[in-house]
Amino acid sequence: MQEYGLFIDGAWNVTEEKISVTNKATGTEIARISAAGEAEVKKAVDAAEKAFKTVKLEPYKRYEILMKASQLLKQKQKQMAEFLSQEVGKPLKEAMAEVARAEQTLILSAEEAKRMTGEMVPLAGAPGCENRWAFTMRMPVGIVCAITPFNFPLNLACHKIGPALAAGNTVIYKPATVTPLSAVLLCEIFAEAGLPAGFLNLLTGSGSKLGKLLTEEERIGFYSFTGSPSVGKDLLKNAGFRRVALELGSNSANIVHHDTDIAATAGLCAKYAFANAGQVCISCQRVYVHRSVYNEFCDQAVAYAQKVVMGDPLDPATDIGPMISEEEAARTEEWVKAAVALGAKVQTGGKRRGAWFEPTILTDVCPDMSIVCQEAFAPIFSIIPYDTIEEAIAMVNNSVYGLQAGVFTNSLEIARLCAMKIETGGVIVNDGATFRTDNMPYGGIKESGIGREGPQYAVKEMTEEKLIVFKF
Ligand code: SIN
Repeated sequence: MQEYGLFIDGAWNVTEEKISVTNKATGTEIARISAAGEAEVKKAVDAAEKAFKTVKLEPYKRYEILMKASQLLKQKQKQMAEFLSQEVGKPLKEAMAEVARAEQTLILSAEEAKRMTGEMVPLAGAPGCENRWAFTMRMPVGIVCAITPFNFPLNLACHKIGPALAAGNTVIYKPATVTPLSAVLLCEIFAEAGLPAGFLNLLTGSGSKLGKLLTEEERIGFYSFTGSPSVGKDLLKNAGFRRVALELGSNSANIVHHDTDIAATAGLCAKYAFANAGQVCISCQRVYVHRSVYNEFCDQAVAYAQKVVMGDPLDPATDIGPMISEEEAARTEEWVKAAVALGAKVQTGGKRRGAWFEPTILTDVCPDMSIVCQEAFAPIFSIIPYDTIEEAIAMVNNSVYGLQAGVFTNSLEIARLCAMKIETGGVIVNDGATFRTDNMPYGGIKESGIGREGPQYAVKEMTEEKLIVFKF
C-alpha cells in the first residue's frame, strides 16, 4: 500500500492520522495519505510566509520553473492520467486530455510571469499636478490558498497554483479529500522543476475540518475556491477584508434554434452532458429547443446517448465511468425519481448500478424540479421546447446560477440577442455552454461565483494594484 505525506517547506511530512484513497471504479483502497491538523496548517503557513518574505524569485525564474513543470508534466502524462482515472473514476482518454490541458495552463501561467505590467498615470491632466509622475505596479497578495474540487483535480489546481506563482505569491494547496494523489505528483513535479521550499505547500485531509482551519488563518491573503455554493458562501463570510475568487457551479443551459444543424447539435449537447459523468460545472444540463425541431432533436440525442460506452475508466473504449461515489449516484437517482413522480419522462437511461449512473435524457420537466433548477452534477440533461427566443432566454435566466450558456443558431440577430440578454459570465455562440479553453476568462455571476480564472485574469485577481507617485 502506497503511503503519502504532506508537502510542507520543501519536505514530505507524515502524520499519524491518515485518509484512505480509493479507486472509484472498484472501491478498493489504493493509497493512504496523511491528514493535516492544526499543527500542519501552522507549519505550512509559516513556510509560505517565510518564503514570501525572504526568497526573491524574479519573474524570469518563475517563468522558467512553470515552463519546466509543464515539460515534466508532459513527460509524466501517462502516470498522472492513471492517477486521475483511478482517484476520480474518469475515463482514461478524458484523464489524458486533462493532463494535456494542465500542461497548457502552466505554460499560459509562465507567460503571465513576464507580463506583470502597470501603467503610467498622467497626473498632469489635473491642475496642480504638473511636477508629478505616477505609475502603477502589480504586487503579489502574499499567501494564496488554493482549494480545489474532485472533478478536474489537476487542471483546476494548475489554474490556481500557476497564476499564484506567476504573480510572485506562495501557495497553500488543499485538494479535494477524495482526490489527493494527483496533488502529490504535482508537488513532486514542482519540486523537480526547481521551485524553492515554501512556495507550494500541500495540505490534505478532511474537507470541512481543514477548510475551517484554513479560513481561520489570517495570514492567508487570498482564497481561490472551486466547489459548492454553500462552502463558497461560508468562505466569503469568513474572509473579511481578504480577497476571494469563487467558482461555484451551475445548471448550465443551451438554446438550440431551428436554423442550425440539429443532428450535430444534439450529438454535441449529449457529449457535453455525459463528459466526466456530468461532473462538470458547465455540463450541459438544460437544453431549450425550438418546438419545430424538438422531436428531431430528442431522437438524435437519444440515439447518441444509447451509443455511449459505460464501463471501466481504465479501458480506452470507455466513455463514461462511475460518479465520484455511490452516494452521489443515489442522490441523482432520487432526483430522477422525484421528477418522474411529478410527470417527467425518461427518454433513455435513468438507472443506477452502484456508483454508475446511465447517460440519461429527460423531457416533460418543470422549472422547479431539482434535476432542472439545482446543479445536477451527473450524466443527465433535460430537453425543453420553446416557441419564441424571448421565452427561451427567460427560461435560461430563470436560475440562481449564471456561469456559461450556449446558443446554436445561424442568425446573427438571434446570436446578438442571446449574447446581450443571457445572464451568465460567458455566452458561447455555436458551441455549448461546456466549451472552455484555458486562456479565456472563466467565471460566473449570481450564485456561480465571483472573479475570473484563466491565467491572465487570475494573475490580476491575485495581485494588488499599487500606485507610485513621484514629485520632482
Ligand atoms: C469546472 O468544472 O469548473 C471546469 C470545467 C472545465 O475546466 O472544463
